[in-house]
Amino acid sequence: MEIIKVKDYQGLSEKACQIIIDQIKGQKNPVLGLATGSTPEGLYQQLINAFRRGEVSFQQAKTFNLDEYVGLPGSHSNSYRFYMQEKLFNHIDVPGNQTYLPHGNATDLEKECHQYEQLIRDAGNIDLQVLGLGLNGHIGFNEPGTAFDSKTHIVDLDMTTRKANARFFSSLDEVPEKAITMGIGTIMECKKIMLLVSGEKKAEAVNRLINGTVTEEFPGSILQKHENVVLIADEGALSTL
Ligand code: F6R
Repeated sequence: MEIIKVKDYQGLSEKACQIIIDQIKGQKNPVLGLATGSTPEGLYQQLINAFRRGEVSFQQAKTFNLDEYVGLPGSHSNSYRFYMQEKLFNHIDVPGNQTYLPHGNATDLEKECHQYEQLIRDAGNIDLQVLGLGLNGHIGFNEPGTAFDSKTHIVDLDMTTRKANARFFSSLDEVPEKAITMGIGTIMECKKIMLLVSGEKKAEAVNRLINGTVTEEFPGSILQKHENVVLIADEGALSTL
């Protein structure tokens, strides 16, 4: 695992942006894997800025997001589709039909999972996947105990995860109990992974991810086995290393 230490969140966002731009420029039809949450917000703003300066175009790119809540339509302000539209897609030139997220309100959720997995295969797999890290080691919505060979599937969200995400909702009760997520096996098939971790509150988790035992009890630990991972972390996140 390559570790890039940056000073702070701004540095993390700029470095991550540069890596994505290099990926896009180095390929005819790049397939990007994207994440939501707080951590990539700065990255998306940097990408928008770079696009506005004419430094990058997303016209040939396809994007696949890691996950989506079950039960929320894409028009719901807390759905991850809505987040992606607001934070990135509406402000760049990626064609709408080249941006994919699981449909959290599909009538047949199992079918939706299979189809999502198939769409990723049909695109030739993800070239560069952006990941954040949960306090309990989750990647995507793969909570502790998820099988390392799992593919896109439906999950029951951990209470810690629901509490961590409650800040985006008006109450904890409103946070959905289920989500669709790419599996750990799906993530491990991505050709390159860029993991972003910021702040002291993630320090223990990132330490365990890098130095801990590889175990399904701490999903992110599997990244030790991936051949092409770059971890971009700021001083706070690396403070216990
Ligand atoms: C988001 C996702 C999650 C987050 C993780 C960290 O699509 O899949 O795994 O990356 O919960 O979230 P933040 O960045 O809000 O700390």
